[in-house]
Amino acid sequence: MFRRIQRGLIFTVFVPLSFYSQNTSALRDSINRSSYADFLQMKKTLGIDQENRPGPSGNPNDPNAANFDENQVGAYRLPSLLTTQSGKTINSVADWENLKRPELIAAFESEMYGALPDAIPAVSWIVKSEKDTVIGGIPILEQHLLGTVDNSSYPKLSLSIEALLGIPKTMGDSAIPVVIQFGFLNAPFGKTEEPRSYFSSPYEPGFKQQLAYQGWGYAILDVSSIQADHGAGLNTGIIGLVNQGKSRSPEQWGALRAWGWGASKLIDYFETRTDLDTKRLAVEGTSRYGKAALVAMAFDRRISLGFIGSSGAGGASLLRRNFGEMLENLASPAEYHWFAGNFLKYASIKTLTDFPVDAHQLIALCAPRPVFISAGSPKIEGQWVDAKGMFEAAVEAAPVYELYGLKGPGTTDFPVMGTALTSGELAFRQHGGGHSTGPNWSTWIAWTHRYWD
Ligand code: GCU
Repeated sequence: MFRRIQRGLIFTVFVPLSFYSQNTSALRDSINRSSYADFLQMKKTLGIDQENRPGPSGNPNDPNAANFDENQVGAYRLPSLLTTQSGKTINSVADWENLKRPELIAAFESEMYGALPDAIPAVSWIVKSEKDTVIGGIPILEQHLLGTVDNSSYPKLSLSIEALLGIPKTMGDSAIPVVIQFGFLNAPFGKTEEPRSYFSSPYEPGFKQQLAYQGWGYAILDVSSIQADHGAGLNTGIIGLVNQGKSRSPEQWGALRAWGWGASKLIDYFETRTDLDTKRLAVEGTSRYGKAALVAMAFDRRISLGFIGSSGAGGASLLRRNFGEMLENLASPAEYHWFAGNFLKYASIKTLTDFPVDAHQLIALCAPRPVFISAGSPKIEGQWVDAKGMFEAAVEAAPVYELYGLKGPGTTDFPVMGTALTSGELAFRQHGGGHSTGPNWSTWIAWTHRYWD
């Protein structure tokens, strides 16, 4: 098995596990043990004795390999997008906004991502330091932002959200659009040479450079500064702070929602600045960060555009499509912390058929705001993310965009790799590279010009 672990990220590619020192593996073991204990505790709180059904393996050679064969997908029935629980058909924006959208938000909050707690402490932002840099020949001011969370209710935990804001200095006094990237900060701020991001692409210039050429800013949000990426961390971070170090209750938020909350706090701060145009804010992320970006956009309507990379199951991919990663994987001890505890029910005492929502509805929550769904090549990225499942979800979400007089992907046929479906507000492109948004940035930028010029 090949894995890469970086600040809590686990990828099924690249570096053999044996590469890591014993210390790293001891730390990982202890995190795994504590995550498992929290996982069991949540099941106990839910009153579930039954073992979770195991998810399929991502390794095609394993006997329990996930399905990667289009012919074996089988039929599935999605929960309705345009009928309310009481059977009313939605055929206007007003009914969508007043009836169905709130119903879906309630279901996503209670059964999947969790709800924001009532009293979340305030965050105060400062520019901790700044430096001038040059990227692709463009002078840029980079600011290290620090959002300190008020911990007076539980001083044992202190929490500061970190972000790196880059502002091209070519735009004079005009307020610039900003792309918020869910990710991590590579180097301690202030180093002159910042290594290229893990998510950068060998196929196109880095995203900072491409954005700077447009006169657009970037803000890399260090999600691990908001909430750790494992179950062992649920009694710390913002989730732990609000719970005063105690375990979560089943309806409470998981890491994806907490990361999204962090982005919303960053936006609150951006709204206090005159050099940033908060009417033109996008979110971007790959993989688990793509899931987080989509969740953030679904819930925070100030986010006007999305670039959702290889988000797969738990993100833009239809859970009911039997292909690649499945709900049982998401509800496993390695990933359950992304979700509310209630989500665990669907991999034990209940099944996918009982699950009230699916990815097309999450995408539809973003309407009328444009969303670009990105995937990599199956040959390089593998098929765990189920690119077709993400495309199908966009197709299924289109009717809500149509209520607003807008357009979905424009076809129901899964496009040939490399095709840019960018004629509507639900764009899709499977690029020729790996597990990254990298090779799609220029396509995303071209499409975004339709909205940001
Ligand atoms: C695992 C996980 C995915 C996730 C990915 C990542 O593969 O199963 O759901 O998107 O890690 O974030 O890299």
